[in-house]
Parts: sequence; C-alpha cells; structure tokens
Amino acid sequence: MRPMLLAAARSPRAERTVTGFPVTRTLVDRFVAGESLASALATVRELLQSGRFVSIDFLGEDTVDPAQARLTVDTYLALIDELSALAGDSGDVRPVEVSVKLSALGQALPRDGHRIALDNARAVVRAAHAAGVWVTFDAEDHTTTDSTHAIVRELRRDFPQTVGTVLQAYLHRTEDDCRAFAAEGARIRLCKGAYDEPESVAFRRKPEVDASYLRCLSILMAGSGYPMVASHDPVVIGTAELLATAAGRGNTAFEYQMLYGIRDAEQARLVTLDRHVRVYVPFGDQWYGYFIRRLAERPANVAFFLRSATSR
Ligand code: FDA
Repeated sequence: MRPMLLAAARSPRAERTVTGFPVTRTLVDRFVAGESLASALATVRELLQSGRFVSIDFLGEDTVDPAQARLTVDTYLALIDELSALAGDSGDVRPVEVSVKLSALGQALPRDGHRIALDNARAVVRAAHAAGVWVTFDAEDHTTTDSTHAIVRELRRDFPQTVGTVLQAYLHRTEDDCRAFAAEGARIRLCKGAYDEPESVAFRRKPEVDASYLRCLSILMAGSGYPMVASHDPVVIGTAELLATAAGRGNTAFEYQMLYGIRDAEQARLVTLDRHVRVYVPFGDQWYGYFIRRLAERPANVAFFLRSATSR
C-alpha cells in the first residue's frame, strides 16, 4: 500500500478526490497546524510554553512557477519576522527553527532551478540568522540530494551555525553523507525517509532501513556536529540515549524531533527528562503531499481515514 499512497501523493487526480472528502479536513487537522500563519503561530506558542522547541514548515513542494517560489520566500520572511519575538535563547541551541523544502524555492524549475533555489534560500537564511532562528533544509526525493547538499554547503560557508539539513537513512549513500557532514560539524536531522525510492538507491525493507538508521546515528553521535534524532520509533529513541552517553554527549548536545500530532505523550515525557524535543509544525493550504506521506507511514491512519470517509 505504501508505494500506491506515495504515488498518489504526487497525483493531481488523487489530490482532487482526497481533498473532496469533507472528512479529510478533520484528519488533516491532526497533522497540520492550520492554513494560516496566525493558526501556526498559536500552535507554536503552545508548544514553546510546554517546554518543546519548534520547526515550522510552510507547506508546498515541487514548484514549477518562479512567482510561486518567490511567494514562498515572502511567506518565510513574514514567518521569520513573527518568530523573532519568540526565538529566545538556549545558548548555542535555538528553540525556533524553520524547515524549508528547496523544491518549494524553485529547485525543480526547468531552467536554472539550482541557482534560483540557492538565491531564494540565501534570502531566507539571512533573515533567519538575524532573527536568531535556525533553518533546516528538508530532504526530498533522491534526484534532489546532490543539489540540496551543494546548496547547504554553500550556505554553511557564511552561516555555519544557522544552517542544517536532513539525511534519510533509507538511502544507500547516507552513511557516507553522515561521515562527511559529521566531520564538518554540521547540524543534521536524521530521518528514515518518506519517499518511494527505487532499490538501486535505497533500502526498501523496513528492517534494513531501521538498521541503517542506527548505523547512521552512531556516526553522527560520534562526530563533532549536532545530531537531531527525527523519529517516533521507541527503539531509535532508546538507542539514541545509549549512543549519546557512549559519545560523552550531555542531554543538550543532541535533540529529538517528532512531527506535530504524532506521539504527543512521548514528546512530553522526554521534556520531563530534560531532553531537547523539537516538534515539526507544518501549516498552509498545500497540505496534500505531506498528509498522504503521513498516511503512508502508518496503515492505521489509512484505515481510520477510509472508515471515516465511507461512513458519511
Ligand atoms: P516508523 O515509521 O518505524 O514509526 C515508528 C512508530 O512511530 C510507529 O509504530 C508509530 O507508533 C509512530 N508513527 C510513525 N509515523 C506515524 C504516523 N504517520 N502517524 C502516526 N504514528 C506514526 N522524511 C523525509 O524524507 N524528508 C524529510 O525532510 C523529513 N523530515 C522529517 C522531520 C521530522 C521532525 C520527522 C519526525 C520526520 C521527518 N521525515 C522526513 C519523515 C521520516 O522520514 C519518516 O517517514 C517518519 O518519521 C516515520 O518514521 P519513524 O522514524 O517515526 O519510524
């Protein structure tokens, strides 16, 4: 079912069908903090008050219209302006982060996409740096990985503390990427990976992905960067504690990250243990692809969605 759902995540026809169900809105609200900046900020304030950190994502991806990419930059600039008042300070660790998809900034444009995305990303990073807000560039499908890493490295030259990125444990290349970024002292969010990738580039069986995640995490924990453990998996969370201790890292020398609406009680439990926990908070009306990837991660979400959609 996962490949089918992930194909649907990029199908305009499936999008029209799914967004047409009245019940979709209820389930989307579980994973998305509203369509407006105001509703996202209300969620952000609540999470910060609960002792959690945040990473805010303005939803949108695969932009093929330069004007849309510019609009995304403007929205991030308005968001960062609002966040500067909330950014606070926890020493080197920033409680407020924005997450950015380079494909929403123009990376997928047929002409000059890489350069346009770099220029747009630089505008976002410059504003975030001035506001005391971190920027982490999301990982998208494997065809974008080289371009994303090149942009991240270019921006890290001027903003090494502000800029981080995501690595996906399901890609065969990621152990090597972890070694390289860990040696550079980079801030790296490690996730399992949410796209439908061919076996020529990715592990496709869950036990292989899980094993790769733990290998990659041990490299990041032993390195000189700041690991961000993005997973809801209890085995990953337990192992991260052990690896951090073995590497001589204190509670604040790495962090956990989870998605808004998933394992809220576990997020709260980790906060009571004085662990840094950051919640990824998406907002905006382009929620379809993000929402379908969340369904694909957990069959129970699909069953709930189908039951609700057919019982009306
Ligand atoms: P796994 O899928 O094994 O799930 C472990 C347990 O977590 C499940 O048994 C269930 O209890 C719970 N769970 C997981 N997913 C759930 C869901 N959707 N609904 C309800 N419960 C769920 N991917 C990517 O390709 N590029 C990216 O940039 C990012 N960014 C990112 C940021 C952050 C902060 C997180 C937490 C995740 C991402 N991801 C991502 C998504 C990631 O690749 C992965 O698909 C999901 O996190 C699910 O994998 P887990 O590690 O949680 O484990």
